[in-house]
Amino acid sequence: MTRKLFVTTALPYANAPFHIGHMMEYIQADIWVRALRMKGAEVHFVCADDAHGAPIMIAAEKAGKTPQAFVGEVAAGRKQYLDGFHIGFDNWHSTDGPENHQLAQEIYLGLRRNELISVKTIEQFFDPDKGMFLPDRFIKGECPKCGAKDQYGDNCDVCGAVYAPTELKNPYSALSGATPVMKSSDHFFFKLSDPRCVEFLEGWTTAPGRLQPEVLNKIKEWFTKDDEGNGGLGDWDISRDAPYFGIQIPDAPGKYFYVWLDAPIGYLASLKNYFGKIGQDYDAFFADPAVEQVHFIGKDITYFHTLFWPAMLHFSGRKTPDHVFVHGFITVNNGEKMSKSRGTGISPLKYLELGLHPEWLRYYIAAKLNARVEDIDFNPDDFVARVNSDLVGKYINIASRAAGFLSKRFGGHLSADLGVEGRTLLDTLRAHSAAVESLYEDRDYGKALREIMALADQVNEYVDAHKPWELAKKEGADAQLHDVCSTCIEAFRLLSIYLKPVLPALVANVEAFLNVAPFSFADAARALGGHQIGEYKHLMQRVDVKLLDALFEPPPVPKLVPGGEELAPEVKIDDFSKVDLRVARIVKAEHVEGSDKLLRLTLDVGEGRLRNVFSGIKSAYKPEDLEGKLTVMIANLAPRKMKFGVSEGMVLAASHADEKATPGIFVLEPSAGAQPGMRIR
Ligand code: MSP
Ligand code: ZN
Repeated sequence: MTRKLFVTTALPYANAPFHIGHMMEYIQADIWVRALRMKGAEVHFVCADDAHGAPIMIAAEKAGKTPQAFVGEVAAGRKQYLDGFHIGFDNWHSTDGPENHQLAQEIYLGLRRNELISVKTIEQFFDPDKGMFLPDRFIKGECPKCGAKDQYGDNCDVCGAVYAPTELKNPYSALSGATPVMKSSDHFFFKLSDPRCVEFLEGWTTAPGRLQPEVLNKIKEWFTKDDEGNGGLGDWDISRDAPYFGIQIPDAPGKYFYVWLDAPIGYLASLKNYFGKIGQDYDAFFADPAVEQVHFIGKDITYFHTLFWPAMLHFSGRKTPDHVFVHGFITVNNGEKMSKSRGTGISPLKYLELGLHPEWLRYYIAAKLNARVEDIDFNPDDFVARVNSDLVGKYINIASRAAGFLSKRFGGHLSADLGVEGRTLLDTLRAHSAAVESLYEDRDYGKALREIMALADQVNEYVDAHKPWELAKKEGADAQLHDVCSTCIEAFRLLSIYLKPVLPALVANVEAFLNVAPFSFADAARALGGHQIGEYKHLMQRVDVKLLDALFEPPPVPKLVPGGEELAPEVKIDDFSKVDLRVARIVKAEHVEGSDKLLRLTLDVGEGRLRNVFSGIKSAYKPEDLEGKLTVMIANLAPRKMKFGVSEGMVLAASHADEKATPGIFVLEPSAGAQPGMRIR
């Protein structure tokens, strides 16, 4: 019977392009999917953008875009990475798609019917300027332990202390600078502490073979209560108050699902969207008990996938995952962990643009991966060594050493006999087929590639022992030359079958060269005797170390200036000229009712009309001291709608990063004689 699988990778946040960590996850999953398909399985492999949540809403607002437009732009950039690295998702969707809105509401209602939703009133920081509750990441203040300034609401970067945002001293909103106030609101909770949930999850997580042993150990810690009865599974806060970019909670106006509630449902939504496109029945698919559901994720999001997600599915009457496969993190040059906020290290797009071969990276990452939750490191020397000596030196070379003689001397026909030694060699190679298949299925790719390269070593020993280049010159050795070269090509074909999950595009070229149909693993049992192969074209170059150096070109070292603020990344003169700076006269300056930060400025920029600009300089200037002065403004900034009106530009001012703690804000003023409207260049 055909195995049927539904496979996903984690849904990336839709606020940034991919980094190398994403590519590693996709490569791991893509290899697995390709290997299972080569075994004859029917695999549906989907992903989507994780579009919702406060950070994305806020980033969109900052960029002056709707959240939909903002995530749409990021989504539009996905294809070049996925195609570039041959990641074969069947579908790419968004958690903001209609399928997800519908499924999230259905799943929630299922949980509610099971009496697993409760309502509690909680107190949280609220930004009175912005009119919204503040997520922890957007509350800053002084660390309650060490007093360090400008620390986030959850932990201190300086001393490492972990605390609640309410413990911060002198808290302020990172959005508006306003002092947050405590405000209460009703939140919905998923009652994970309910004995039914605990019992279900204890069973689900410990099912034999479902989770990796180290993942299970971690989960056991989460389950365990300490001596004081703390810890254990707590109820999960699944609601957020408007304004929020997300999915509305049924029967609860102004309440939205917390992004992590609807994000994994996006897996189902993407599959449903895909089935809609290909005309396959979504409900029938999940009604089939034989369907296997598999999620590939990184270790940082294990909690969501091994506790919340299976419980959500089970208690809304749905199929639960068969496996959640957790991987570690990739670092570059043993460098800092590539955190979500700090980004990349090496850029996958730059890699492609430099003309580095995408399958070098697939091969290299595969060679480093195993089934455990271990971090791996991208090391350039190691990369060059593995690609040049193993992939090209051992594997590709086999074909290039034999193909020329076959086409020149034997019309591309393979010999049927091959001789005893040739047959023995090929039998050895074929005998590893089952082992290689299961190493792929067990995600032990590093070991699979070591086995395949050990086989390639044997083939190269055979070539060195039989020296086709000498046979070619020897009188009467034609038959032997034919056997040796045919053996090499057969061996190359077998190695290609084994490597196909890792090198799909390269092996497609091999299939064309050998003039055969696309390989499945079953093809390893066949032989090509008598078959006519095509013309050999060079399949893959060695890594040019110079290209790698370019990939690693160090970013300009940020210098520290007296204020302690790091220099922004280097820009080109073109970047600067995009910003149109003009001399402006402050015709009028006045207080803004209801704002303790802003002044309203009326500016003359020599255009024959006046501009309205809001400026956060109230703490430093009295309006009457500004009137009549010249200053500098950004005149081509997109107008921004604010609570108090539209702002048509921005006035430039100097300050330290923490303008509250240090001398304050200083509006720029040109030297005497400058005229309104003059450009600053
Ligand atoms: N949006 C959530 C996932 C929702 S799934 C329903 C998220 N997004 S993410 O963009 O931050 O991360 C996406 C995936 O990339 C996660 O599996 C994460 O573990 C993985 N990685 C992020 N950085 C990574 C590395 N440096 N190395 C390997 N994988 C890493 O989390
Ligand atoms: Zn601290």
